[in-house]
Amino acid sequence: LGIHFHKWEVKYAYKSPDCFKKLAITINGDSPGPTIYAAQGDRVVVTLTNTLPTENVAVHWHGIRQIGTPWSDGTEGVTQCPIMPGDSFTYEFVVDRAGTYLYHAHYGLQLSAGLYGFIIVSVPLHGVPEPFVYDKDRSIILKDWYHATTYEQSTSLSSIPFGWVGEPQSLLINGRGRFNCSLLNAPSSDHSEICEAKIPECSPYSLTVVHGETYRLRIGSLTSLSALSFQIEGHNMTVVEADGNYVEPFQTKNLYINSGETYSVLVTADQDPSRNYWITTNVVSREPSTPTGLAIFNYYPNHPHKYPPTAPTTGPLWNDTASQLAQSRAIRAHHDFVQPPPPRSDRVIVLLNTQNLIDGYNRWSLNNRSLTLPHTPYLIALKQNFTDAFDQNPPSYDIANYDISKVPDNVNATSSNAVYRISFNTTVDIILQNANTMTPGSSETHPWHMHGHDFWVLGYGSNKFDMVKDPATYNLVDPILKNTVALYPYGWTALRFRTDNPGVWIFHCHIEPHFFMGMGIVFEAGVEMVGTLPTSIMGCGETKRLINP
Ligand code: C2O
Ligand code: CU
Repeated sequence: LGIHFHKWEVKYAYKSPDCFKKLAITINGDSPGPTIYAAQGDRVVVTLTNTLPTENVAVHWHGIRQIGTPWSDGTEGVTQCPIMPGDSFTYEFVVDRAGTYLYHAHYGLQLSAGLYGFIIVSVPLHGVPEPFVYDKDRSIILKDWYHATTYEQSTSLSSIPFGWVGEPQSLLINGRGRFNCSLLNAPSSDHSEICEAKIPECSPYSLTVVHGETYRLRIGSLTSLSALSFQIEGHNMTVVEADGNYVEPFQTKNLYINSGETYSVLVTADQDPSRNYWITTNVVSREPSTPTGLAIFNYYPNHPHKYPPTAPTTGPLWNDTASQLAQSRAIRAHHDFVQPPPPRSDRVIVLLNTQNLIDGYNRWSLNNRSLTLPHTPYLIALKQNFTDAFDQNPPSYDIANYDISKVPDNVNATSSNAVYRISFNTTVDIILQNANTMTPGSSETHPWHMHGHDFWVLGYGSNKFDMVKDPATYNLVDPILKNTVALYPYGWTALRFRTDNPGVWIFHCHIEPHFFMGMGIVFEAGVEMVGTLPTSIMGCGETKRLINP
């Protein structure tokens, strides 16, 4: 089995991915960062040196379960202390399943600053073959891009009056987008706003194809906020993989993708090869004000940067939730790879998603508790029995009388760092229940992501969950396993998973500002079975006494 060493320097650099020059957090100068390639069963070793002058960092390996290495999950406040400026930290883990995964910063709003990339795990030489064939393997990573810095964003989000980050300025396809520079005011005398429409750095990404060949396109989204649709003009896509799991193939013209999701689609270059076609991505779920993201589907031997003769295709209507829900429901496990879920669960956790105020600050809550990460990471505190580090008793909450269709009379919540302690090797159902926000007539889409586990997606509904009737509608036959799933406006999403991975794990909304505003829970299972913790994850909060007794 292989071992892959990577040396990363995390540093600020000026970047103009959408023609507008701003500081980005890069890996070795690049944003998106380098793709990590490995085969199933290989070990990946990333030694990260933090050369951000005044900022901590931590990197999460999104979709990698970290079996036996929960301390390498990269979640600041949960599995490790942050990596301080000047320090190096080594992440080491096994990629135990083939598929398409991601990595990104997991500290503050550093994802929005550009620290993100792909992890692509191939089937090993004598491994179980994938249930589909293709000629070439290509990948596309999607990002929304903001011109405000993470400092401006995080300050606005945690101020009174509250300042929302707003819609992104552009959408990036493989790190390239296009902001309309003429929208800027006349360049200021200090040259603080530099936007150059003609530099190659922001020319559209071009994917070259040969007529007649079939491409596996791995598509991942690490947007800070936006849910997207993705289309290739004139071409059908066959969805074959979702979050590292094989999908019973189905065709689509628009692929909906939320932050934290990955898909593989098969595309055959079967159109008129004398021209190029648009690859487009659009904001959905929120009323867009961001221009369509563009790339070129280039038929060899046309020039890769020759614009298609047509106007870019627009995606579906942003508020067509029904078709998003239809795609979610169409995603089933491939019939040769079905792993049926346990028929019943040992515990059901209902999580009511609400937008709240705490002491006048805007927050997001689950069951009226908004997550604040403790200074002592949970993994270390629970393993060492520092039981005073945080609240051991998350609230139970009865949604029976909660009216999800309107703004509640009392929008106040409380903050909490409570942890859900769940018995090891049990089956847990989570019902995510959406509700109206603090704005009348509004409910948002939230992509929920679980660390350390895949879960079966048992079902979706578009109203208030009914404890008696709705479980009868669960798909227990061929549900897809995923690590990120959408919760649609005013609806519910039901998940099932096994607590079979000893550690402490976070489950949160993958919209970065929502998580920043408290939208997550932390759960523990089997922490006593976790091996000796490396001291490299320590150094903050109460863990100081472990390394300096
Ligand atoms: Cu990709 Cu905790 O997230
Ligand atoms: Cu959210």
